[in-house]
Amino acid sequence: MKKIIIALDGHAGCGKSTTAKAVAKSLNYVFIDTGAMYRAVTYYFLENEVDFADPTEVKKALNEISLKFVFNPEKGLGEIHLNNKNVEPFIRNMDITSRVSDVAAIKEVRVFCVREQQKMGEDKGIVMDGRDIGTVVFPTAELKVFMTADVKVRAKRRLKEMESKGVNTNLSDVIADIENRDHLDSTRKESPLKKADDAVVVDTSGLTIQEQVDSILKLAKKKL
Ligand code: DC
Repeated sequence: MKKIIIALDGHAGCGKSTTAKAVAKSLNYVFIDTGAMYRAVTYYFLENEVDFADPTEVKKALNEISLKFVFNPEKGLGEIHLNNKNVEPFIRNMDITSRVSDVAAIKEVRVFCVREQQKMGEDKGIVMDGRDIGTVVFPTAELKVFMTADVKVRAKRRLKEMESKGVNTNLSDVIADIENRDHLDSTRKESPLKKADDAVVVDTSGLTIQEQVDSILKLAKKKL
């Protein structure tokens, strides 16, 4: 059967990853959470006290980084490994979340991550979620979806997800973080978050995860 690239972009906390994971599973495709890559780079920068503002330090640090998704059969999905260490448990906390937009705005970091993402998609048969997949990483993707939702709905979902992972936070902090990241991601100079002209908009405010998944599968099946 024909294999396609599904690019899933949109605002923070719309359920992109959850949806992308389920869509990939249903089509037997590979799922790539590109946000995890920017988070892993942020983790490395913070751990190694890399000065984000110094391009020489940034370049040197990027040369020391290798990123790869390793399939975890127990969880049924790929986990991000940084220099052969599974960093999945360390990249979803507020420390990383509050700094990741700054790191993702650095040109050298974007060039590095985009190059890796393009390699991962060479054989197609992937669902990739992020902010610039349909605009920069795969501008010729067969299916582009732009997901959005009301900020309060997004914050409540994110809070639930964080609580289930044992992360201690509250609704107003999560709203503030989402609004701040939307702003930074949409106004940055390098590859800002924006809808590709040919992307289909899916507003998930009133949808269940299953409805989100079904609507994207329906769009995908038209392209297969
Ligand atoms: O999807 P997420 O919340 O895990 O993404 C973390 C951050 O990484 C987000 O604030 C924006 C950035 N990002 C990006 O700039 N480009 C991508 N393709 C994916 C994420």
